[in-house]
Amino acid sequence: MKMLPVFAGLLLAATQASAQDAMLPPDVAAGKALYEVNVPGGYGCLPCHGDKAQGGRDGPKIIGQDVVNIREQLPINDSMSFIELEDEQFEQVAAYLQWLAAN
Ligand code: HEC
Repeated sequence: MKMLPVFAGLLLAATQASAQDAMLPPDVAAGKALYEVNVPGGYGCLPCHGDKAQGGRDGPKIIGQDVVNIREQLPINDSMSFIELEDEQFEQVAAYLQWLAAN
């Protein structure tokens, strides 16, 4: 069965990715999920700011942004004002962006 090594490799890669996420501090992991996947009333930051917050098609680099600036920018920026975050979620996204800057 020639396909087996390919499947085994994919499985290993998937296992490594989730193991890595599981080792993140809880607020960083929660922020990563918000950043990459979904926020209430909208979608993640990733489509605009890039997969590692390095800047993307529609948004600037935001690696290392602190919670104060994120809280300030989201509501006043036309591109992002549709995104509604809870207080705790602002903290989590900021924790993830700080973590990216440090890693
Ligand atoms: C639809 C695209 C889009 C999405 C989604 C988006 N942004 Fe933005 N963001 C932008 C654009 C465009 C700017 C630049 C606005 C400007 O310079 O006037 C920006 C600017 C910012 C800034 C200010 C950067 C600076 O240098 O001061 C921060 C912080 C930020 N975004 C955080 C986020 C976070 C966190 C999320 C996810 C919760 C997010 N953005 C989702 C488009 C987006």
